[in-house]
Amino acid sequence: MNIDLTPALREPIQQLINHASRINSYKTEKYWYPLSIATYDVEEILAAIDSLCSFRTTMWEKTAEFERRFSFYQGSKESVMVNSGSSADLLIAFALTNPQSKLLEKGDEILVPSVTWPTQIWSVMMAGLRPRFVDTDPRTLNVDLDDLRRKIGPKTRAISLVHLMGNPVDMSVVRDLCTKHSLVLIEDCCESLGAKFRGTTVGNFGLASSFSFFFSHHITTMEGGMITCNDPTLSDMFRLLRAHGWARNTKYLQLDPVADIDPRYMFVNWGFNVRPSELQAAFGLEQLRRVGGFFVNRRDNARRFAKHLEPHRDIMRLMEVHPDSECSWFALPIVLTPECPFSKRELLTHLESEGIETRPIVAGNLARQPVCEYFPDLQGADLPGADAVHERGFYLGLHPVSAPDQLDRLGETFDRFIRQRT
Ligand SMILES: Cc1ncc(COP(=O)(O)O)c(C=O)c1O
Repeated sequence: MNIDLTPALREPIQQLINHASRINSYKTEKYWYPLSIATYDVEEILAAIDSLCSFRTTMWEKTAEFERRFSFYQGSKESVMVNSGSSADLLIAFALTNPQSKLLEKGDEILVPSVTWPTQIWSVMMAGLRPRFVDTDPRTLNVDLDDLRRKIGPKTRAISLVHLMGNPVDMSVVRDLCTKHSLVLIEDCCESLGAKFRGTTVGNFGLASSFSFFFSHHITTMEGGMITCNDPTLSDMFRLLRAHGWARNTKYLQLDPVADIDPRYMFVNWGFNVRPSELQAAFGLEQLRRVGGFFVNRRDNARRFAKHLEPHRDIMRLMEVHPDSECSWFALPIVLTPECPFSKRELLTHLESEGIETRPIVAGNLARQPVCEYFPDLQGADLPGADAVHERGFYLGLHPVSAPDQLDRLGETFDRFIRQRT
């Protein structure tokens, strides 16, 4: 905008934030180590105020700029911002079965992970594909590669992969399988921004990839998400699906005019309205400047905590990372071994009473969720690895702005509990 509000507003906003953090700490006093903490600051708020005061609150130039910079960061040709990671998953799935793209037919089988955030599965189902669960490796929390090989059958046309908790899947195996069986690959990177397998950033292995910028994720736009791909025709399909099937902002506007149709309101496909607001993109631009620091802090803190758990390997383990991978640590997921002398419930009750917030490893074995009773495709799979994660797994937060001594305090709490029980 024309008037620079920054000098006048920085100080009062900083004071407001300081005040709010005090109020916040009363609210969250139950947990000295909560699941997530805010990573945005004065700059993000100033950027959002700038959009408000310029009367540019709906998708505009900052969204386009954030998409450009995200593509640069991610190493993809195209990025399309949406209002959540779930919307990103949804548009990718709908693009696959859209009659214009002809990539997959409704009713085609797609292999899906059994431990993931559920909207990854709902999206393909809503788009008319038939999901088939693949088991989970409780060591990596990712797809069990042997079961993936086994599940590829004559009806399989695609794989929807997730790099859970920032841990890249072994993409050499997956890529070979996709080539051998001519399968379409899509990647859910909602928990893995910045992770790499053999030097390639995840999200660059398949046809299209989804990212989430929810509050607790690697970067936040409050709510928000992104789709990346390398094909401009496909990215225009995402733009159509993002906004009503409207030709605006796509190549279809430049094509031959259609008789009797005002090009300002031309609809060339169907679509939703899952556009982000300009304020979300304003946040995203600031967060993207800080993502490198967040990444290093999360990684170092994860390593610090791992050292505390290492002597207790026979009882519990952090997820295993492939030696050729760079994990973009999202959280601290732990799976108890079958030999563990105490129950998960006992441990979690203790941690919660000590002010440490805990959660299951996302939805656990998704096939065990009550919703599956309505959908026969989600029933009947034998998923022992996902069961192990369900029954013996949990996770703690991992904050990009935590001091290392907090991780030591966390490790010492585990250490004391284990020594009392063994
Ligand atoms: C693996 C995965 N996929 C999809 C999503 C959905 O993202 P959002 O919460 O932005 O809708 C999440 C959210 O946490 C996720 O972890």
